[in-house]
Amino acid sequence: MSRPTLLLSSFIALVIATATPPPELYSPLITSKIRTVAQGESNPATYPQYTDSTVGKWQYFQPDIWTSSFFPAMLYALNTRAKLCGTGDGDTWVELGRQWSTGVIPLETKNDVGHDVGFLSMPFVEEYYLNPTNQTATTAIQAFVADLDARFSPVVGCTRSWDTSDSDNFEVIIDNMMNLELFFVGETLTGNHAYRQHAISHADKTMQNHVRADGSSFHLVTYNATNGNVIFQGTAEGYADNSTWSRGQAWGLYGFANMFLHTHDPNYLMTARRMANYFIQNIPSGGVMPWDFNAPLEPARPADSSAATIGATGLLLLAEMEMSLSPANTSGRDFWTNAAVQILADTTSFAWRPEFQSLLSNGTVNNRASPPNNSTGIIYGDYYYVRAGNELIGLELANCSLGLTQ
Ligand code: GLY
Repeated sequence: MSRPTLLLSSFIALVIATATPPPELYSPLITSKIRTVAQGESNPATYPQYTDSTVGKWQYFQPDIWTSSFFPAMLYALNTRAKLCGTGDGDTWVELGRQWSTGVIPLETKNDVGHDVGFLSMPFVEEYYLNPTNQTATTAIQAFVADLDARFSPVVGCTRSWDTSDSDNFEVIIDNMMNLELFFVGETLTGNHAYRQHAISHADKTMQNHVRADGSSFHLVTYNATNGNVIFQGTAEGYADNSTWSRGQAWGLYGFANMFLHTHDPNYLMTARRMANYFIQNIPSGGVMPWDFNAPLEPARPADSSAATIGATGLLLLAEMEMSLSPANTSGRDFWTNAAVQILADTTSFAWRPEFQSLLSNGTVNNRASPPNNSTGIIYGDYYYVRAGNELIGLELANCSLGLTQ
């Protein structure tokens, strides 16, 4: 494969001092908080999604929402951490991960969460990687990928996000770049190559219509379902149609790096770089991740720590992709890893909360809700914080004993 031509040199100049991973990423509080929640499993299962904003107590929800699988997936991520750190308690985390996945199983046949099957399938994908013959995992993946594929339109070239009352409006949100991993796992499991083609088609259309020339992104693009034409580019969760919702930007940069992982198409690498560059350059000095990069500072602009941890994990994946090039792009790797570590350090400074049940505070679930839902711990913010910590160990940029120093 020829090396993509986008020059990193133009923005390498912006790299600041080498950042240091925060010890909190490996704090014993991570496992103790998560173990306490995991051992208090409710029956029938409900799932932590976000906390209140004052004392940080988890709010629990029925399984049929998009966030249910983040907690079980985090239990699997602690198995990964146990292996990386040699703590010997990986099996316990896997067992808890299995227990906490069971409440999601009914959604395989009663799928009223629509497009979010990529997130819902995560713990089953983790189980599948550990144990490829596990029937629970393979059944779940096959069911969820079939659900996703049923949402694909050959006319539009994308999977549909929301089921609107006007079926001619085919809405696609940038978040759905995160579903595409499920298509690749589904292809591996079933041999159905249409899944790969649909992932590629969805990513190509998203590259074309969601990503702006400056690397920023629209959250929502609406297509005409009958002829595939774009009829709206704007937002549902962000500040304004022409703004950039930070979590959407994070989903996008991660999603395009992941598309490069699976296809080695240099267009995806360049798109991931453009989105990552916009993400990094638009974090205000001080490092507090805004919920939308273009939201006004006054009245006080809420942060979104979840956008920060998703973005940091995406940047670490992008760094790995730079190293998969031939020859390996070490300066690119260093640039993205440094940015990721800086984001994690800044986010830890403003959002690490020992007194909360969650690891982090200052997430924004939905700032456009009435009343706005912000300033909380969020399960996916915590999940990607743990994932980023694991990735840094894998990249030999941190070690498990760091957490003992705080
Ligand atoms: N729809 C996923 C999110 O709110 O980030």
